[in-house]
Amino acid sequence: MYSEKVMDHFNNPRNVGEIEDPSGVGTVGNAKCGDIMRMYLDIDDNGVIQDAKFKTFGCGAAVATSSMATELVKGKTVEEALKVTNKAVMEALDGLPPVKVHCSLLAEEAIHSALWDYAEKHNITIEGLEKPVNDIGEKEEAVEEEY
Ligand code: FES
Repeated sequence: MYSEKVMDHFNNPRNVGEIEDPSGVGTVGNAKCGDIMRMYLDIDDNGVIQDAKFKTFGCGAAVATSSMATELVKGKTVEEALKVTNKAVMEALDGLPPVKVHCSLLAEEAIHSALWDYAEKHNITIEGLEKPVNDIGEKEEAVEEEY
């Protein structure tokens, strides 16, 4: 049911933890399943993500997608990190079962939420970044219709 990559990132999640004094931190949840994800980013003066860590209170797929999301954004600029969508995370994990697609949305939104916090703290606008939601329940319905 799950790809080897999903199982690997679930069993050995990368970048679990917190960043002290992060450049940006964001928390998102899904009221329906009760899962919560917090993403920390360390961003240097050139806008490059030097480090990313996460804490996820959620299902196995949520752990695997947050692990993969942190791996994908590391070394990227904030603009490039915006392209790490839930689809990109799923592809990197060799897919997710349809009922678990929404878990990857948490990862995307957690990145956006941390980037939003970074932008607010630095008084900058990140082109293409929309204000993140705290509860991805609404977005989830739109995405589930797509699959
Ligand atoms: Fe809710 Fe996976 S079941 S994030």
